[in-house]
Amino acid sequence: MQYHRRQFLITTSICLSGMALGCRAKKPDQSVTISPAAKVRDNTPLQLSLPDLGYDYAALEPFIDAETMKIHHSKHHAAYITNFNKAATESNLAGLTLEQVLANTAQYSAAIRNNGGGHYNHAAFWQMMHPNGGAAFGGKIAEAINANFGSLEKFQEKFTETAMKRFGSGWAWLVQAKDGKLLVTSTPNQDNPLMDVSEVKGKILLGLDVWEHAYYLKYQNKRADYIKAWWNVVNWNKVAALLA
Ligand SMILES: [Fe+2]
Repeated sequence: MQYHRRQFLITTSICLSGMALGCRAKKPDQSVTISPAAKVRDNTPLQLSLPDLGYDYAALEPFIDAETMKIHHSKHHAAYITNFNKAATESNLAGLTLEQVLANTAQYSAAIRNNGGGHYNHAAFWQMMHPNGGAAFGGKIAEAINANFGSLEKFQEKFTETAMKRFGSGWAWLVQAKDGKLLVTSTPNQDNPLMDVSEVKGKILLGLDVWEHAYYLKYQNKRADYIKAWWNVVNWNKVAALLA
């Protein structure tokens, strides 16, 4: 009995962090699996691995081209993982989940912050896109978007404007704040709203990568065209599943 209670507490504490690291929640669709479960109770350095996309590199054509997806996933995302694992080994970063590290990122080096965020953001991003995902908008996520922003169109305008205004490299986000409200925000570089350094904090429901590496091959400098196309592949089923 004592064992079951302890296991429940461990599982709950990990799963409550928003996007859980491979936890076995009662409703698994309410989490995004970012990386294999971290070894939180030993001295093994926290190590990350490259997740599969769950679809082919060409699956998001014509909106996101296969070459961009291939380089983005196999080169850019892979590099964040390599660099994080090196930094985590060198600094003996152990006994923590990635979410716990991100929640206290001010304590860590730039290498841990940038590459840990880089892995987390991209692992989430792949799951937030799906071929024809845009057609799945409806149900409770539609109700929440309408209640918070007025309509899907108004939400998309606000999100797009926020993504367009992000100077240089970064991300645009839809997050759910602690009070349940949905907010649109943006972070620079590879920061995200789970981080203590983020101006707006909340549970990530949707994220858009606006680094040039996410769109330059197909769209060159036309970030607006990339964002307009991206709405066609937003995985609304996943966004709805993440909504508390
Ligand atoms: Fe990226």
